[in-house]
Amino acid sequence: MGKAFGAVAGVGAVASLYAMKKSWDSLPSVKAAGFTTLDMSVYNENELVIEKWRGKPIFVLRQNAAMLEKAKQRDGDMDRLIKVGDAYYMVCIGLCTHLGCIPGYYPDEMGFLCACHGGQYDVTANVTKAPPPRGLDIPSFKIEGTKLVLGEEGPEYKKMKESGITL
Ligand code: FES
Repeated sequence: MGKAFGAVAGVGAVASLYAMKKSWDSLPSVKAAGFTTLDMSVYNENELVIEKWRGKPIFVLRQNAAMLEKAKQRDGDMDRLIKVGDAYYMVCIGLCTHLGCIPGYYPDEMGFLCACHGGQYDVTANVTKAPPPRGLDIPSFKIEGTKLVLGEEGPEYKKMKESGITL
């Protein structure tokens, strides 16, 4: 009887230690949701890649020469781009700032169209046609060499926020 109780108590102790350890460890989803590191060297010019950060779609679009020319012609567009190494990238949350639909990218037109109500954005995700009230929002980021850490606030992001480029 004593042995059986001891065995049950032992199993119980191991189980509770396991449960305690599990509660100490951060949940995998929280870890994944907090920060996302993107290796910016893998993206091709004019090819939209949709990453994920904190459950939201993140648009990454490496700019080509034609896009940069276009961006230079419109006030504020270059300020929306992130320079990593020698390349410029549009990185933004892929949810329309009108009512949250996911806009589609049209590489030939080099622009985004939100099919819900016809809103449009250029290749820097700046709004070009209402109803969206502003360009697509830029997630907090920090540049680390050739990598971009989403979820951290580096000096480039703080500057964007202070100048009202993103919320
Ligand atoms: S949700 Fe995009 S235009 Fe309305």
